[in-house]
Amino acid sequence: MFDLSGQAALVTGGAAGIGKGIALVLAKAGAKVVVADINAETGAATAKEIGGVFKQLDVTDQARVRAVVDEVVAECGQLDILASNAGIFPQATLEEMTEADWDHMQAVNVKSMFFVVQAALKAMAPRGYGRVVITSSITGPITGFPGWSHYGASKAAQLGFMRSAALEYANRGITVNAVQPGNILTEGLKAQGEAYLDQQRAIIPTHTLGTPEDIGHAVAFLASREAKFITGQTIVVDGGQILPESPEALL
Ligand code: NAI
Repeated sequence: MFDLSGQAALVTGGAAGIGKGIALVLAKAGAKVVVADINAETGAATAKEIGGVFKQLDVTDQARVRAVVDEVVAECGQLDILASNAGIFPQATLEEMTEADWDHMQAVNVKSMFFVVQAALKAMAPRGYGRVVITSSITGPITGFPGWSHYGASKAAQLGFMRSAALEYANRGITVNAVQPGNILTEGLKAQGEAYLDQQRAIIPTHTLGTPEDIGHAVAFLASREAKFITGQTIVVDGGQILPESPEALL
């Protein structure tokens, strides 16, 4: 386990699911974790559980994003780690998808990530140290799924953003990386229904779904001091889901 003691971490969408897994692992590694989430009830409960601090935040509100980052710096003295994780994944086929569906997806998953990462980088740059880890997905950059064309586009866009951001800050002690989760058992994934979960277990080589902590551990690595020479990269955490070239490859 990497030692993050003395470091301040901000996790968006940290109340539940993957964000909670990230918050938990970073706190266990010694970081002071600020859980930022739109949901005040679950956010406060998670912050209490991990010994962290809760800030209510809708990541689509740029002014509030900036204010929360300022508060973290004022209260913790610095911001070392940002996990930009808040995201949504409602399904809509192209037959039914509206402009509003498209815009909402890109607003929450892409534009808000820009708000959050930009504000964090501004706080990190003067100290010449920072670790940014974005939660992307295998869906979009690598795989596809009917009903998730707008979601896949948003998750691929995050990686395009990450690569240029990484270059802008590479000579300032700041790394910008991403994790690409496969199917991770969260409330959001459970909402897809049992039939979906069973189908996914069947096609994942481990025949298990991932846990939020599985993503937390990958984030903790990328967020560590030791990962200083890794930037603009991704780690796929999917139980081997993207590997089989045909159903016969599954045991
Ligand atoms: P979830 O729905 O279980 O949890 C998402 C959290 O984000 C909730 O606490 C929610 O209140 C918060 N949130 C939603 N909108 C927000 C907003 N506007 N501002 C602040 N907080 C907000 O979702 P899950 O599954 O944990 O997903 C988290 C991230 O992981 C997303 O970016 C998603 O695309 C990504 N992901 C999830 C996978 C999975 O299998 N669960 C697979 C690949 C990627």
